[in-house]
Amino acid sequence: MKILNIVGARPNFMKVAPLHRAFSRYPDIESKIIHTGQHYDARMSDVFFNQLELPQPHYFLGIGGGTHTQQTAKIMLEFEPILASEKPDVVLVVGDVNSTIACALVAVKEGIPVLHVEAGLRSGDRRMPEEINRILTDSISDYLFVTEQAGLDNLKRESVPDEKVHFVGNVMIDSLVYYRQKSQQLDLLSSIGVEPDSYILMTMHRPANVDNEQGLRSIVQIARNTARHKTVLFPIHPRTLSNMEKYSLKEELEAISQVQLMEPQGYLEFLHLMESAALIITDSGGIQEETTYLQVPCLTFRDTTERPVTVEIGTNYLLRDLNPDTVEEHVQAILDGKAKQGQVPPFWDGQAAERITTIIREKLM
Ligand code: UD1
Repeated sequence: MKILNIVGARPNFMKVAPLHRAFSRYPDIESKIIHTGQHYDARMSDVFFNQLELPQPHYFLGIGGGTHTQQTAKIMLEFEPILASEKPDVVLVVGDVNSTIACALVAVKEGIPVLHVEAGLRSGDRRMPEEINRILTDSISDYLFVTEQAGLDNLKRESVPDEKVHFVGNVMIDSLVYYRQKSQQLDLLSSIGVEPDSYILMTMHRPANVDNEQGLRSIVQIARNTARHKTVLFPIHPRTLSNMEKYSLKEELEAISQVQLMEPQGYLEFLHLMESAALIITDSGGIQEETTYLQVPCLTFRDTTERPVTVEIGTNYLLRDLNPDTVEEHVQAILDGKAKQGQVPPFWDGQAAERITTIIREKLM
């Protein structure tokens, strides 16, 4: 069984690492990593390969940035000849980034079964590029591996046959469980000058929030209001940084005492920062899940979430607009000890990659 695993952007690396590790335990499975190069900075990519003990990618497509069409089309053009020469039995894609749909589409047209890990999630908001990628990838995949009940419900509603759908849990949580101890051992906080629970961690990179001046101004104000309560650590995504520079807002953000802008963090470092934070403010998808597992309160600046279990039973709150006043009320309530108590969702236990491997062995080999 030859499996080509596709990675492209930062949130893919921690999902593929446990799968590649699980596959590599079987001599009759050949697992190869294809990196599209959608993310290419050392801090957005290389550090994750090193820390997650992924091998050097067998192929690096080097496609870089661009419009969605350019990115998707370039990935397809570069991936097609690799597929032709490697002739894998299956192609495995994770998540919802442009690399996911691009490689799934090439594979399915070549008649190669596609396995989609983290299938079935829907925000219901088709303005999100990820939502389009999710819907399209699920509709052409042969095996759909689901992380939470809402994923099962969505696929049923879309009439996906039951036999294609498998509830396996969350491979991103596999990585968290596997690396948690190592991350806890880092001596990071003292070098930053903070104590556990003495800071709020913030990340923002969604196009809807950071690709327009009004959104960016709100983010600066949110950071300012939050910093009245505790130090804010803000590792800044390249998209957010370049837009802050474009609208001349970077200096304003830097000038707020108690806000510490940081480079994008490595996997272990970010895990450490999440685990020791008093709370997290974000618009990320994955961080909603990681904070639910860690039972750290999370304020998510999104109108909708494709991961509703994190709000229903986890520690996540959705704040529906970028309103700097709403954030303060929530920050204050959480710091006053009024945060809801979360639970860890079913199958988020570090074993999802094992379950997927068992299904592949039973059904495909
Ligand atoms: C992509 C994913 C998003 C995911 C996010 C995590 C899609 C549609 N979006 O968004 O779901 O949450 O990754 O980060 O696939 N850049 C760099 N260096 C890098 C990577 C990107 O400078 O290593 C720049 C790009 O050139 C571009 C911007 O950052 O200007 C955004 O990168 P892009 O890959 O288009 O999308 P993300 O916003 O990162």
